[in-house]
Amino acid sequence: MSLRLGVLVSGSGSNLQAILDASREGRLDAEVRVVVSDTPDAYGLERARRAGVPARVVPWDPGRPRQEHDRAVVEVLRAHGVDTVALAGYMRLVTGELLAAFPGRVVNIHPALLPAFPGLHVHEKVLAHGAKFSGCTVHFVDEGTDTGPIICQAVVPVRDDDTPETLAARILREEHRIYPQALQYLAEGRLRVEGRRVFLDPPSPGSGTLHNPSVRF
Ligand code: GRF
Repeated sequence: MSLRLGVLVSGSGSNLQAILDASREGRLDAEVRVVVSDTPDAYGLERARRAGVPARVVPWDPGRPRQEHDRAVVEVLRAHGVDTVALAGYMRLVTGELLAAFPGRVVNIHPALLPAFPGLHVHEKVLAHGAKFSGCTVHFVDEGTDTGPIICQAVVPVRDDDTPETLAARILREEHRIYPQALQYLAEGRLRVEGRRVFLDPPSPGSGTLHNPSVRF
């Protein structure tokens, strides 16, 4: 089933761009129907405009309850015939208003290997902790912070000379691969959620064991 996507952004929108490119090149069976940002200066809005996709702003008002903000977002999504919502660099916690409007159809990408390092400033935390791997996670969204059932992940080695910026860039390249892939699995109806687990039907062979640094034993 082709996805009718609404993509929520707050910043650069490079994940949006990966989704737009995959859709245009026929690798992703989805149409981006609208891009919604909580801030007018998100470059992701410009990416939408260049792709001929409606770009809308629902400004974040700190004095307005989050539920009210989400009701306004849902209204825009519904007006554009959306059936699936992809959070892509979206910096707001969504509420039950949005989740109830699109049950089981809201996904997010996080630049770490959840459940490790949820929240913000993840690359700084990964380096400070001395982790040897990091990566990115596509997951279904629930009302927690980066806590929904995991759809797929990519593992990226952490280098001794990494900075938050170099690690972020290496992970971002993998984000741009696994997000369209996860959405394609969804479009193909291959994702089966059982409690916290997401199964792929039929299963696909995963990659082999990864070691960092190398293990010669
Ligand atoms: C990405 O690492 C994403 O995972 C995080 O924000 C970063 C920028 O995303 N949420 P984008 O370029 O705006 O898609």
